[in-house]
Amino acid sequence: MKSEFFEQTRQYKDRVLKQIGLYLEINHTAALYEPVRYALQAGGKLLRPILAQVTCEAVGGKSQDVLDAAAALELVHVFSLVHDDIMDNDDMRRGRTTVHKKWDINAAILAGDAILIKAYEAVGRVNPIYLTRVLNNFSGAILQVCEGQALDIEFEKRDDVTLDDYFSMIDRKTARLFSLACELGAILGGGSEEQIAAMCTYGMKLGRAFQVQDDLLDVLADQETLGKDVGSDIQEDKKTFLMLYTRQHANDEQLQQLKSFAGREHLAREDMQQVIAILDRIGTIAAARQEVKNALEEARVSLALLAESNSRELLSKLLDMLEQRTF
Ligand code: IPE
Ligand code: IPE
Ligand code: MG
Ligand code: MG
Ligand code: MG
Repeated sequence: MKSEFFEQTRQYKDRVLKQIGLYLEINHTAALYEPVRYALQAGGKLLRPILAQVTCEAVGGKSQDVLDAAAALELVHVFSLVHDDIMDNDDMRRGRTTVHKKWDINAAILAGDAILIKAYEAVGRVNPIYLTRVLNNFSGAILQVCEGQALDIEFEKRDDVTLDDYFSMIDRKTARLFSLACELGAILGGGSEEQIAAMCTYGMKLGRAFQVQDDLLDVLADQETLGKDVGSDIQEDKKTFLMLYTRQHANDEQLQQLKSFAGREHLAREDMQQVIAILDRIGTIAAARQEVKNALEEARVSLALLAESNSRELLSKLLDMLEQRTF
């Protein structure tokens, strides 16, 4: 995606990738470190470490102050992806075969574990003045990601999940890590308590928007561009925003049609087109887009507490980019 945001944040991305590279220097247990390196070298948007650096600068700090924490955030994210792909039974991630499909489930569990430990190593290097607070927030947030992921899986088997349940689940599995990124940026940049709280809120709202958009991309995106399985949520009967909204607004026939796609081994392009046509008719796609827009605007409100700067401008541009994203 050609985007001003990605062009203007390339240096933040490169810096973190270099930092992560330092943690991956040659080690001898190939059975563990090959899958680790494979998972970490695939790229990705690096949004969480970019956010940590930009929020750090937006409160008056230097991006160097948050670099170890930024690397730790990306490592935690990748750990969660490697395990998530096992849980969601997915074949593709960041344009490549998932770790558990390329090796096996045991290798992927261990690679995820090792990456999480590397994340702790990295976050342990932050300025000692802030270490206790940073570690507490870091651990608390990762536990919330695990809680969210547990709910996500539990919801697959339940038919009584509400939209409130859904938001509580995505706030944990996705939004909290975005808010942690912004929070750590603001803490390590020496921001005031008000600025730290505002950045935390900005990250939560942005993260909500991000996950609803991710649910949308699961049906709308082109698989090549997205770099991960399309239709996966439908196959696994995930209680996404799309499915919960649809359940409230569809008629019995539409619901039956949609149900027939759950549990299938493979969904062809034509199947996805049928799903999209049904969701479109019900108004689900429009409702999800509106939900994303609203959450992004709520995020924008929190930026008012920051002084005007290029970094604040970037945080605003990120919101525009997220509304348009295709991967
Ligand atoms: C994917 O996150 C997982 C979700 C929270 C939906 P990203 O879309 O940020 O994944 P990468 O890091 O760019 O691959
Ligand atoms: C991701 O939710 C949340 C994580 C903590 C990884 P998804 O399962 O929807 O993420 P993708 O679509 O596989 O990236
Ligand atoms: Mg998942
Ligand atoms: Mg998944
Ligand atoms: Mg998804």
